[in-house]
Amino acid sequence: MKRIETVEEMMQIARQLRREGKSIGLVPTMGYLHEGHLALAGAARKESDMVIMSIFVNPAQFGPGEDFETYPRDLERDCALAEEAGVDYLFHPTAGDMYPQDGGIRILPGPQADVLCGSSRPGHFDGVLKVICKLFNITSPDRAYFGEKDAQQLAIIETFVRDFNFPVEIRRVPIVREEDGLAKSSRNVRLSDAQRNEAPAIRRALECGEQIFLETGNAGETLAAVRRLLQKIPGAELEYAELLEYPSLKPADADTKEIILAAAVGFGSVRLIDNVLLPVK
Ligand code: PAJ
Repeated sequence: MKRIETVEEMMQIARQLRREGKSIGLVPTMGYLHEGHLALAGAARKESDMVIMSIFVNPAQFGPGEDFETYPRDLERDCALAEEAGVDYLFHPTAGDMYPQDGGIRILPGPQADVLCGSSRPGHFDGVLKVICKLFNITSPDRAYFGEKDAQQLAIIETFVRDFNFPVEIRRVPIVREEDGLAKSSRNVRLSDAQRNEAPAIRRALECGEQIFLETGNAGETLAAVRRLLQKIPGAELEYAELLEYPSLKPADADTKEIILAAAVGFGSVRLIDNVLLPVK
């Protein structure tokens, strides 16, 4: 595996790979890798000649007072894990190289970014789209891999790619979980022991909601039950629990084929999200 530290070198390599007719799979991450990230790399490895993983804690997607400074980082450990997962190039640029100046151009997502995490993190998805646009241009991937864990991000990126004709196929990868059901997240290491013990209740609440929804088809009843369960978790603060059409993230209607039941819960300063995607019968 080769470590690439500059945008210019990464662009040169990607151009060369394309000239050689190699297909490129891109796995964008912010590092502190866990099995969720590695599942994306595994999917990329299976269907691409070359796998590029980016590790970049993107300042543009963190709001004031969010955890940009304290976001966990461990590049040496990440390099070993990425190499084991079959990554060919690990792209790790500096913020100065990615954002040498701010020309003030913004990429504004549509109404998909007004709900769920978007409503409490204004500007977050602008920053995500900005870095994704840059990463696509820098690495020119055939396919890019995103986790269903961040289902809203995935839906917005799929729309971005479709609306702007990026020649990139977006691949969805299912959520990887701990044995007790907690969705793997780089932020889990910041939970105290007590919080870590309670955190799997998020998944259990969503599973309960899934069951109620599949049995009754009643969104109101489902949400009421999920919210009640989430509000009962000791030390946790419910930010949202919503049931929406996926991937439009609009209220469901008679034509809806897939629904997302999504929740965000705060444990002190640690914010955890989880979701289930449900087919509509
Ligand atoms: P990060 O949180 O590091 O996640 C990188 C990718 O890993 C995302 O596509 C995310 O959905 C996926 N992922 C995280 N946990 C997962 C899990 N438990 N199971 C499956 N996939 C999981 O998401 C970001 O970084 C950033 O916003 C980024 C897209 C890199 C742009 O900066």
